[in-house]
Amino acid sequence: MKAGLPIGVFDSGLGGLTVLDELRRALPREDFVYLGDVARLPYGSKSGEVVQKYAQRCIDYLLRQPVKAVVVACNTATAVALEMLRALSPVPVYGVIGAGARAGADATRNGKVLVLATESTVKSEAYLRAFHRIGKAVQVEQMACPLLVPLAESGWFDHPVTREVIRTYLTQASDTDYDTVVLGCTHYPLLVPSFRGFFGNEVRLVHSGEALASEVKEELKKLSLLREEGTRGKILFHTTDKVSSHGPIVRSLFGHTVEFDLVDL
Ligand code: DGL
Repeated sequence: MKAGLPIGVFDSGLGGLTVLDELRRALPREDFVYLGDVARLPYGSKSGEVVQKYAQRCIDYLLRQPVKAVVVACNTATAVALEMLRALSPVPVYGVIGAGARAGADATRNGKVLVLATESTVKSEAYLRAFHRIGKAVQVEQMACPLLVPLAESGWFDHPVTREVIRTYLTQASDTDYDTVVLGCTHYPLLVPSFRGFFGNEVRLVHSGEALASEVKEELKKLSLLREEGTRGKILFHTTDKVSSHGPIVRSLFGHTVEFDLVDL
């Protein structure tokens, strides 16, 4: 039966494990196939056309497994390719941006939100459109923070250099009165300790992946695709280049080593 199939999740690399982590918490009985396109990382500095091509290869690979639904964990791929992926996929496709914007709009009290993301996500204005669709009067400023991805990859989650980089970026915001920050990149939730070091507890930090996980659960339920019975689901990890089974992102999220199968797209 279709509900018994795994859910496919893809990202440009291992940052999407932050989204997978939220999905497995919300959906503990589901099986997942995770694909990290580490060979082509980063997507965030590439053109929309190139990211669309890469995203299409990722979804084609996941659909061949097969899977019952696909989650685009990557904000950049969601920003530039979600509509195209939906048009070509026979199964439902969910992206992080709509959920992140809805959670941001819900969280803000003063109607001022800052979205942090990659250069390509910012350029696409996908978050601005998503906030606009919600229809609530929210003033949104976007900011690209490209240096944060390598800092997260290095495991500098709570580090003076990361805090300094955050400070340097955020002092460039034109309006500093926002009360909510949307972490619009897979890697940024790993840096919450450094963000907290900068903001204290004044500002609400919204993790798009967390918001998406509960929405995916609702949607699968409506479509009768939820696995209602059974024990803890399995996760298969696939990557397009070799990665360490115990790198900082894996250790921080899973607390144990993970075996990645190398695949060619
Ligand atoms: N996964 C990307 C995102 O969420 C960040 C890393 C990259 O640039 O590929 O936008």
